Amino acid sequence: MKAAAALSLLLSAALACPSKLTTLPRQIVDNAAGTLSHEEIVEKSAAGLRLLKLDPTSPPVWFSEEGKLELMRAHVRFVDVTETWEDKVAIKAAEAAAASFGPASDAAHRASFPAPSHQSEVSALLPDLSIAQMNSTLSQLTALNNRYYRSSTGAQASTLLLNIINGIIAGRSDISAALYTHSWTQSSVIAKVAGASNNSAPVVILGAHLDSINLSSPTSGRAPGADDDGSGIVNIVEILRVLVASGWKPATPVEFHWYAGEEAGLLGSDAIATAYKRAGKQVKAMMELDMTAYFRPGSKEVISIEADYIDSGLNTLTKSLVTAYSALPWAMDEPCGYACSDHASWYDQGYPTTMLYEAVTGNDNARIHSSSDTTSVSGFSWTHSLEFTKVALGFVYELSA
Ligand SMILES: *[C@@H]1O[C@H](CO)[C@@H](O)[C@H](O)[C@H]1NC(C)=O
Ligand SMILES: *[C@@H]1O[C@H](CO)[C@@H](O)[C@H](O)[C@H]1NC(C)=O
Ligand SMILES: *[C@@H]1O[C@H](CO)[C@@H](O)[C@H](O)[C@H]1NC(C)=O
Repeated sequence: MKAAAALSLLLSAALACPSKLTTLPRQIVDNAAGTLSHEEIVEKSAAGLRLLKLDPTSPPVWFSEEGKLELMRAHVRFVDVTETWEDKVAIKAAEAAAASFGPASDAAHRASFPAPSHQSEVSALLPDLSIAQMNSTLSQLTALNNRYYRSSTGAQASTLLLNIINGIIAGRSDISAALYTHSWTQSSVIAKVAGASNNSAPVVILGAHLDSINLSSPTSGRAPGADDDGSGIVNIVEILRVLVASGWKPATPVEFHWYAGEEAGLLGSDAIATAYKRAGKQVKAMMELDMTAYFRPGSKEVISIEADYIDSGLNTLTKSLVTAYSALPWAMDEPCGYACSDHASWYDQGYPTTMLYEAVTGNDNARIHSSSDTTSVSGFSWTHSLEFTKVALGFVYELSA
């Protein structure tokens, strides 16, 4: 994630105003996706076009791959719904039909969660969280040329991560890990921990994105992605390592997700969240960690909490988790906008979401999506990132105890 919202506003203005259409990529094919047939989706995607949703309310629009890249370079966010649109339409139709049998739930996106109550157990684990471990895992990931979702090194990142996780969970029959494959090269990775007292209870999900991107040369360009989102990736690996080492067995199920293709329109998380909803899976809460390791030198160090595409009840819990488990204060970020990161995929399916961010917008890392997103950038801080690991460990522990 996360790019200048002002530019994205400029482009939506251009979309709305035909006289400015020359500023838009020329590859837009048509705007009639609201009434898409199955045949049209099959035909156009076979021809290499992608169906992109540019805002929450308008129908999706067809773009070529090159047009999609132009949008990314112009910092316009979107969800690539090419492979999920028909499922999304079916889900909405089923929900509308169900709603006619009773009052629509106004509780959506205002879930209620108990305050943290396992301070002694969680606090005992926090000293085990290790910067050296996170740094070592990150070094292996950033050694790959990039983690682009269509590159072979992007696929290598998935298997590398899976191998690390398999090492962590060895000997635990209640924990499994696997690639979640997609139609593109990179796989998402999911680790599942069974609930010891009720494995049918709603699942708690902690997520980050696996891919990285060099915007000027996505397929072959250097994109270490140390902060975006190497930091979130290794935070979650470290949380899993410490929990497993402690013998932790959650009462209810927990999943750790590393998503493919976030930079290209939330591809992995949208596929997984849509599949979970289609399967009727219940999700208690989903937290995304997308960039946790930088704050602008000289600025106030905080744990920033995203303000949109989140559940306000879950955000209340997130704030108290920061207070309980981190030395840093929380601060609300300004709204990040449509398709900001993977939590938005879960929000779109009606699941409670929250997202921590490294700094309030403006104090965040400007080197992302380039060859200079490395740990040697001035402002990159492992001790800062460690604070996010503490809060997210608390999130997992408290909600699954
Ligand atoms: C992180 O790893 C790199 C490469 O292995 C090493 O040079 C650096 O000193 C490490 N930093 C920390 C904080 O452990
Ligand atoms: C387990 O969770 C499911 C789903 O929430 C619930 O229906 C069921 O009653 C729970 N079982 C027990 C033994 O608590
Ligand atoms: C993209 O990668 C190329 C080749 O590694 C590099 O020269 C270029 O600076 C990178 N672009 C950005 C924006 O970092």
